[in-house]
Amino acid sequence: MAEAPLAALGQDRPLVLVSNRGPVSFVVPDGGGEPVARRGAGGLVSALGPLLRDTGVTWVAAAMSAGDEVVARRGVTEAEGYRIRLLAFEPDTWSGHYDEVCNEALWFVHHGLWDPVYEPSWSSQWMDGPWAAHRRVNRAFAEAVAEDAPPGAVVLIQDYHLCMTAPVLRRTRPDLTLVHFSHTPFAPPDWLRMLPAGARAELIEGLGAHHRCGFHTRRWAEDFEASCRAQGVVPPAVFVAPLGPDIGDLERTAASQEFATALSELDRMVGDRDFVVRVDRIELSKNLLRGFLAFESMLENQPERHGRVVFGAYCYPSRLGVDAYDRYHRSVLEVVERVNRRFGNPDWQPIHYDPVDDYPRSMAALARADVVVVNPIRDGLNLVAKEAALLNGRHAQLVLSPEAGAWEELSALAWRSDPFDVDQTAGAIAEALDVAGDERVRRAETWRTAAAHRTPEAWLADQVVAAGDGRAGPGRS
Ligand code: G6P
Repeated sequence: MAEAPLAALGQDRPLVLVSNRGPVSFVVPDGGGEPVARRGAGGLVSALGPLLRDTGVTWVAAAMSAGDEVVARRGVTEAEGYRIRLLAFEPDTWSGHYDEVCNEALWFVHHGLWDPVYEPSWSSQWMDGPWAAHRRVNRAFAEAVAEDAPPGAVVLIQDYHLCMTAPVLRRTRPDLTLVHFSHTPFAPPDWLRMLPAGARAELIEGLGAHHRCGFHTRRWAEDFEASCRAQGVVPPAVFVAPLGPDIGDLERTAASQEFATALSELDRMVGDRDFVVRVDRIELSKNLLRGFLAFESMLENQPERHGRVVFGAYCYPSRLGVDAYDRYHRSVLEVVERVNRRFGNPDWQPIHYDPVDDYPRSMAALARADVVVVNPIRDGLNLVAKEAALLNGRHAQLVLSPEAGAWEELSALAWRSDPFDVDQTAGAIAEALDVAGDERVRRAETWRTAAAHRTPEAWLADQVVAAGDGRAGPGRS
C-alpha cells in the first residue's frame, strides 16, 4: 500500500501519529547484539501499521521492551518502513502510567468493569503516584511531538493512554491541529464519577483541548459529550469513524501455507461436527467466562448436541502485569476444564481452548467456523466481528453483543447476545447453529457486505478530514 492511502487523502499537511504502543517492538537477541524489529501487538497497530509504512510519517510511541529502550536512546529511528520516535520511562513511571492508570483505572472505567461494592478505592497516594506518572508520560509525549512535528502538522493522537497531551501542545505549538481517536468506548457520566475528581477533571479538560475527538460509534461519542457536560466542559467537535478490516492483509494471510496447514488441522479436529469459534485477547471486557457458561448451558439443556458441536477458543494472553487478568484467566480455565470433564468423552472434547497467539491459525478458525461468538461486556468496536465475515465462506453466523461498537453496523444480521444473560446467549448460539436455508444465506451475505463497507484507509482519511484545514478554531462544536 505504501504511500497510496495518504496520497488518496489529497492532503498536503504533514502528519504525526502518536500512540502508546508503537508499530514495531524491538527484541534484543539472546546473547545480546542489535535489537531486531517485530510487528507490534494489538488492534490499533494492525490497523494503522500498513497505512503508515513507507510514508515518512513520524510515529511517536512508548518504549515497552528492553530492545525498545535501546532504540529510544537513538532518537528518531527508521525501521521496517516506519519513522519511529520511542520514548523511554523509568520503571516506576511506566508501571504507574501503563499498569495502574491505563489498564487498571481508565480501561476499567470506560468498559464498566468495576464491581462498585469492592472497587475502586482511591487515596491521595494514587493521585500523587500513578496518576502523577500518567501525567508525566502524557507531558513527555507532548514535548516530543512539540520538538518533532513539522510546522502546521496534523497530529493524530490515538486512544485512552494519551488524553492529556493537548493542553501542553496548544500552548507550545499553536500551529498544530490535534485530533484524538478513542479505540475504546467512553465512560458515561455516572461511571466517570468513579474516578477521583481531580483525575476526571484533567482527563476531560485534556480531551476537550483537541480540535476534534473521534469514536467508533455514535454511542461512545454521545457518552463522551455527556461526560464533558457533567464536568462543566463544552465538548470539542466529535466525529464517528468506525474502523474496517484490512481486506488485502486478510487475503494474504488466507493464501499462506500456515493458514492452509491450520485449516486442515481444524478440519481433522472438527470433522462433521458444528464449529463455534471465538478469537480474543484474554481480556476482562471480552466476557470469555460467560461465553463458556452459555456453551455449558446449551449442552446441559440440549443433550442431542453432545458429540455434535465443538467450541474452538483461540484466546491469547494480554496485560500480564495486571493481577486481575491473571485471576480472570485462571477462572476461565476452570470453567473450560469443568465443561470438558462434565460432558466430554474419549471421542469428543467439547471446548478446544488454545492460548497460543498464532495469527494464521486464529484466522483459519474464523474461516472454518459455523458460528462466531463475540459477546463483550463493552468493546470499542471489535474488529474480529468484521474480519470473520470476510474470511468465512461457509455461511457462518455471528452471535454479537449489542455492547460491541460493531453492533451499530451489524445488528441487522447478528444473533443478539446480551452479555450478562447466559441462557439468552446459549439460545442465540443454538439458533445461530440451527438456522438454515435462505435465512442462513441472507444473514451471511448481509454480514459480508456490512463488514466490507468500511476500510482502514477510509477510517484514517476520516481522522485527517476531521482535522479540517487547520483553522478549526478553538475545537468546540
Ligand atoms: C486495545 C487498545 C489498544 C491496545 C490494545 C492491546 O485494542 O485499544 O490501544 O494497544 O488493546 O493492548 P496493550 O495494552 O497490549 O497495548
